[in-house]
Amino acid sequence: MAYAGSGGDIGFAIPDYGVFFPPNLTPDPETGLGGWTAEEIIRAVRAGERPDGRILAPAMPWRSYAALNDADAAALAAYRQSLEPVVNPVPGPFGPRESASAPYLGLVLPGTE
Ligand code: HEM
Repeated sequence: MAYAGSGGDIGFAIPDYGVFFPPNLTPDPETGLGGWTAEEIIRAVRAGERPDGRILAPAMPWRSYAALNDADAAALAAYRQSLEPVVNPVPGPFGPRESASAPYLGLVLPGTE
């Protein structure tokens, strides 16, 4: 059963970046954050960097979440890790010249319209 935070099948298209889908943030080891440590989750939220080094697209507001203090960031990671795992693979990510396999919304970033 899917619930909020277990991934979405409607993506966000960001000019020059590609199309990105809300990831599965439950602790499923294959399709979610099950293999991630709390430190890795915190790094993704505050610095936008995944364990594989990929920098998350600005659909994920990590530049704003950079202001989270250590206690709040740790609480956020602990909460995500406390949830029931949900198996839910999401599409993508797709590069700027790839065509997405599922529907998406177009984002316009401030200052670029
Ligand atoms: C406090 C709340 C949030 C937490 C804990 C969180 C956590 C994360 C994490 C850990 C990732 C990386 C997952 C992965 O690569 O598999 C991620 C990516 C992402 N998040 Fe968030 N997020 C939050 C809020 C949001 C919000 C508000 C949005 C959009 C409105 C959003 C949209 C996205 C998208 C689209 C990605 C994928 C970006 C990419 O693949 O480049 N997130 N988030």
